[in-house]
Amino acid sequence: MPPEAGNYGHKKNDGICNSVCGEPASKAMSRLKCALRGFDFRVLLALLIGVPMVLFMIYAHGQKVTYFLRPIWESPPEPFKILPHYYNENVTMENLCKLHGWKVRETPRRVFDAVLFSNELDILELRWNELSPYVSEFVLLESNSTFTGITKSLHFKENRHRFRFAESRLTYGMIGGRFVKGENPFVEESYQRVALDQLIKIAKIEDDDILIMSDVDEIPSGHTMDLLRWCDDTPQIIHLQLRNYLYSFEFFLDDKSWRASIHRYKSGTTRYAHYRQTDVLLADSGWHCSFCFRYISDFAFKMQAYSHVDRIKFKYFLNPERIQDVICRGADLFDMLPEEYTFQEIIAKLGPIPSTYSAVHLPSFLLQNVDRYRYLLPGNCRREKSG
Ligand SMILES: *[C@@H]1O[C@H](CO)[C@@H](O)[C@H](O)[C@H]1NC(C)=O
Ligand SMILES: *[C@@H]1O[C@H](CO)[C@@H](O)[C@H](O)[C@H]1NC(C)=O
Repeated sequence: MPPEAGNYGHKKNDGICNSVCGEPASKAMSRLKCALRGFDFRVLLALLIGVPMVLFMIYAHGQKVTYFLRPIWESPPEPFKILPHYYNENVTMENLCKLHGWKVRETPRRVFDAVLFSNELDILELRWNELSPYVSEFVLLESNSTFTGITKSLHFKENRHRFRFAESRLTYGMIGGRFVKGENPFVEESYQRVALDQLIKIAKIEDDDILIMSDVDEIPSGHTMDLLRWCDDTPQIIHLQLRNYLYSFEFFLDDKSWRASIHRYKSGTTRYAHYRQTDVLLADSGWHCSFCFRYISDFAFKMQAYSHVDRIKFKYFLNPERIQDVICRGADLFDMLPEEYTFQEIIAKLGPIPSTYSAVHLPSFLLQNVDRYRYLLPGNCRREKSG
């Protein structure tokens, strides 16, 4: 049966071609002619050039297409319940607490600031100086591996002398990377966060102490931490709404940074995390300065080292001249569209971020040390190549 069936199929095919083209199908050339007959040559040429071009466009701009269409395939997360935030330096703590519906305490809670450190030394210095008057214990963990499994130096350890003011309150930890090839970077990231949880315990945190969970570049303002440590009845967990800046305090993007969170510690329950943990968000509580680096080489390192390496579509993205140009224009290092949930917001944010000329209400240590940190201020986008 099988041979007969195969034979039949073969005969049948030949029969079709013969009947369509009216030629014997034995010669290869005539088979080709047969295939091309009735096919306009120009259409073929257009396909040969057009199809690869379209494929390349999808490859190069696929992210843009999917991000632009995001409002169709993804609905926005539940909006936060935003708490109004009251502050002026001349209002007493008792009144500030009252304005928020809280009572003032007799003594402040202890505050622990815990971070996973990569290489952002300058931003860490701004952060710790801003928070120093309110923090009881600084907890810092660094690894010799980036989230993407690239070996890195222990930048904090090598520059520890810059942080003498914090030394007596510092719990430092180092964790060896696992260097697993081809793994999702989020796995190494959560491994490091679990280790940070251990380090916080080593720092002797106790129930009802305040724990700041945020990346190094998400800086709560000092007065925000002062309020949260002095007032009673504050929420168990509260996210901080931070002002989003890119490259420096010249490029103010929006006020939608929300990942930083403040916890009243509960042993057995509190876990170090960097995702949404509650619905409450305290308005205008600090700054999030992304890619705020001194050297061009730091930008290239960060682009390759952290969790979105897949965004480097082309090698020239890492070209120092391109990076410098992108920084000065306030454009996107990965040539991406804004990550938004409505067409209105995507379109409003298309193109580079306009410069801001306000340097009002920035971290005080920055304005007290302008000579060292000029590159973070408006009008100073040129960067040195490397340090
Ligand atoms: C703050 O309050 C003090 C005393 O009430 C007053 O002398 C001072 O002028 C006030 N400062 C500002 C900036 O309002
Ligand atoms: C990373 O650190 C661990 C622990 O100190 C060490 O065993 C390992 O050799 C280091 N790896 C590299 C590549 O430096």
